[in-house]
Parts: sequence; structure tokens; C-alpha cells
Amino acid sequence: MAIERTFSIIKPDAVERNLIGDILKMIEESGLKVKAMKMIHMDRAQAEGFYAVHKERPFFGELVDYMISGPVVVSCLEGENAIKAYRELMGATNPADAAEGTIRKRFAVNLQNNSCHGSDGPDTAKTEVAYFFNDDELVG
Ligand code: CMP
Repeated sequence: MAIERTFSIIKPDAVERNLIGDILKMIEESGLKVKAMKMIHMDRAQAEGFYAVHKERPFFGELVDYMISGPVVVSCLEGENAIKAYRELMGATNPADAAEGTIRKRFAVNLQNNSCHGSDGPDTAKTEVAYFFNDDELVG
């Protein structure tokens, strides 16, 4: 099995409802290790850059407004097949479709306010980790 790194955001809806600990507990109990972590409050340019791949989508403006509406917790997670493992732990993007026992089934409010983000592939994971962390911050 390949040891991979992935990138995670605990989003504003979850931070606002004091769910950081609950979500981290699910992440750690799944066997993923936290390599790096910090709380940040993104500005508009930072959120637009992070979600640039979605900039032509109709939900882009609202997504950016939401992502800068409050602080988030960004992290780099490491483990066996971390990218897929974390996506499975999060569940489907829309909580209405998320499986029992997933983060989004338990905590997400709706399709946009869906409590967490995880990279969707190896290239994205690399870019997203580097967007928020320098190499010397990956201390875990
Ligand atoms: P995330 O995994 O961070 O990737 C893009 C985000 O856009 C997604 O989670 C949701 O928060 C948000 N979003 C809002 N509407 C949609 C939609 N129709 N399809 C996908 N993502 C959406």
C-alpha cells in the first residue's frame, strides 16, 4: 500500500459549531496521521485561488463567500492511500448522498456547507498542501 499525503479543510460551518475535535477524532481514529495543521481565516483572493478550478461554476461566488465567512482548519494528512481513505471518511459531497458513519453524514448542513474538504487526486493533493504549507511546516 502506498503512503500518501492529502489536504484537508475543516470548513467554517463545522468550526463555527465547535466540531473541530469531533472531526479530528474521526480522522485520527481512521488511522490517518496529522502531518501539519493550522487555523486560518482566508481572504477572498486566497479562497478564489484555492477554488480556481471551479471559477466557471455557477456556485463559485457563493462558495468563496462561504469559505471566507469564518475561520477554517487546514491540515496535511498522511497514511496508506490517504487520498481515497479521507474521501471515503468524508462521504459524498452532498450530505444527502453521504453514507452512514461519514463526516458529512454526521455533520454537514447542505451541499455547500459540507463541513470538510479533501483533495481529489495526487496532483491536487500536492498543489493544495503546498498552497497552505511550507515544507518546514510538515513536522508530523
Ligand atoms: P469541496 O469538496 O470543497 O469542493 C468544492 C465545493 O463547492 C464543495 O466541496 C461544496 O462545498 C461546494 N459546492 C457548492 N455547490 C456545489 C455543487 N453543485 N457541486 C459541487 N460542489 C458544490
